[in-house]
Amino acid sequence: MNKGIAIYPGSFDPPTNGHLDLIERGAKIFEELVVAILRNSEKSPMFSVAERMEMLRTLTGHLKNVRIDMFGGLMVEYAKSMEAVCVLRGIRAVSDYEYELQMALLNRKLEPTLETVFMMPADKYSYVSSRLVREVAEAGGPVRGLVPEVVEQKLREKLDPAYKLQGVHEITEVPRQVPRKEVARRRKTKP
Ligand SMILES: Nc1ncnc2c1ncn2[C@@H]1O[C@H](COP(=O)(O)OP(=O)(O)OP(=O)(O)O)[C@@H](O)[C@H]1O
Ligand SMILES: [Mg+2]
Repeated sequence: MNKGIAIYPGSFDPPTNGHLDLIERGAKIFEELVVAILRNSEKSPMFSVAERMEMLRTLTGHLKNVRIDMFGGLMVEYAKSMEAVCVLRGIRAVSDYEYELQMALLNRKLEPTLETVFMMPADKYSYVSSRLVREVAEAGGPVRGLVPEVVEQKLREKLDPAYKLQGVHEITEVPRQVPRKEVARRRKTKP
């Protein structure tokens, strides 16, 4: 076991089974793993940082050496402030490699003592991304198997608020939510 803290930075919007796979692998090799949510990485995230933190805390509750945090600004500065010795990143396919290599080399230039470690997920998660999950869920498709059940439930609540109400009251007729993309399309095509 490596002595020291590792940071696993990302947007986790939302956390997927791929992220969780990597967290579990990382927790086995580092003394402590800090999953760090990058604030403002996207202009309009689907989930707030607080919602993402809550989901990640629930999902990693069984891993005693995993902590959830958030950060803004330069990752290397945050890593320094946490006294981290390592950054954990995941590589799914060749397509991730170029960007990840660029980031790792830039971060090494900014902070030569900070090492980046790459891990591969189980092959069944090698195509899973948060973006893919958001797109499937927004189109009303099934995300089972791509995300943990807690996240699946949160996606359903986020995209169809009436679903949440159904659990509380018996509702016989629920007005269907018009999907966000459809609202935007209708706005655009308005004369
Ligand atoms: N399924 C996965 N397997 C392995 N690594 C992953 C997986 N999904 C994400 N990662 C890695 O986790 C880190 C943080 O990724 P990030 O939060 O951007 O997730 P993402 O799925 O790529 O999200 P988005 O689709 O919004 O870009 C990156 O190093 C990314 O390569
Ligand atoms: Mg990404």
